[in-house]
Amino acid sequence: MTSASPCKKAIDEAYAAKLIGKNACGSGFDFDLYLHHGAGAYICGEETALLESLEGKKGQPRLKPPFPANAGLYGCPTTVNNVESIAVAPTILRRGAGWFAGFGRPGNTGTKVFCISGHVNMPCNVEEEMSIPLKTLIEKHAGGVIGGWDNLKAVIPGGSSVPCLPKDICDDVLMDFDALKEHKSGLGTAAVIVMDQSTDMVRAITRLAYFYKHESCGQCTPCREGTGWMWRVLTRMCEGKAEMAEIDMLLDVSQEIEGHTICALGDAAAWPVQGLIRHFRHEIEDKINTYRAGKSVHAVAAE
Ligand SMILES: Cc1cc2nc3c(=O)[nH]c(=O)nc-3n(C[C@H](O)[C@H](O)[C@H](O)COP(=O)(O)O)c2cc1C
Ligand code: SF4
Repeated sequence: MTSASPCKKAIDEAYAAKLIGKNACGSGFDFDLYLHHGAGAYICGEETALLESLEGKKGQPRLKPPFPANAGLYGCPTTVNNVESIAVAPTILRRGAGWFAGFGRPGNTGTKVFCISGHVNMPCNVEEEMSIPLKTLIEKHAGGVIGGWDNLKAVIPGGSSVPCLPKDICDDVLMDFDALKEHKSGLGTAAVIVMDQSTDMVRAITRLAYFYKHESCGQCTPCREGTGWMWRVLTRMCEGKAEMAEIDMLLDVSQEIEGHTICALGDAAAWPVQGLIRHFRHEIEDKINTYRAGKSVHAVAAE
C-alpha cells in the first residue's frame, strides 16, 4: 500500500479542522475538495485536455470557444487554474491587491515562482519579484552559472516552449512579460534553463523537438506531422547531414505550425526551433560545413 500524498494529507487535515466540507468554517457554505491524479501525459496540463481526461476520455484539447468558464467539466462552468495561482491567492487576500501589485513593473506586477535548472551551481525553485534581472535571479538564488557568468551561452527563460536567448541579451534582460516579448521570447512558465558554453545548441533544441513530437496528441495535422518532421530534420542537422537551404525550410515549416493548431502545443514546438535559427543559425551551418569537409561532427541523435 502506498502512503497518502502530502496533498491528500493536507486535504484530510482541512476536513478534520472543518475548514472545508459541509458548512466550511461555519460559513453555511459547503466546499468539497477532491484530489485527482493524472497519468503523466504532458498534454493533460492543457486545460481542456485536462477536463477531457477528468471525464474519463482521451486527453485531447477541445476547440475553443466555448471556453471552460462557459462550458467546462461535464458541460458546466469551470475555472481551471495553476496551483501557483491558487497558492498565492490567500496572501493577496490577506495583504491586499495593492501590496501584490507593488512588485515588478507596471503591466508585469506581482511575484513569480522561478524554476532555475541546467548549468547553474544550485538549481532551485524560488518565488521572486517580477521584473527581476535574469542575471540577478541566477546569481542570487542558483549560485551563478557553472564556471562564471562569462561561461554562459544561452538561456531558455520560460520553459522549454519559448525561444532561447543568447548571452548578450541575458546580460541585462528583465524577467517579465514585456521585456522577454521585446526580445521575441516569453516568460511562459518561468522555468529558466541555463546552458553554458559546452552546450551543443542544435542538439539541445533537437531534444526538445523530440519531446514535443512525443507529446503531440495527434489531432491537428500541422502539429502531428510538423513536430515529427522538425525533429527528423533537426536530427540530421545534429550530424551536419543537411542542405543549407533546409535551415530556411525548417523556419518556414515552424511558422506554418505556429498559430494553426487547436492548442498551444504546436506553438510550443515551433518557438524553440525559431529561437535556434534566430540566434544560433551559425551552429547549424558549422555542422553542415564540417560534415561536408569530411570531418567528424560530434553529435548524438537526440532521443
Ligand atoms: C501543451 C500545454 C500544456 C500545459 N500544461 C500545463 C500544466 O502542466 N500546468 C498548468 O498549470 N498549465 C498548463 N498549461 C496551461 C493551461 O492550459 C492553463 O492555461 C493554465 O492552467 C491556467 O492556469 P493559470 O491561469 O492559473 O496559469 C498547458 C498548456 C498547454 C498548451
Ligand atoms: S496542437 Fe498538437 S497537442 Fe494540441 S491539440 Fe493539436 S495535435 Fe493535439
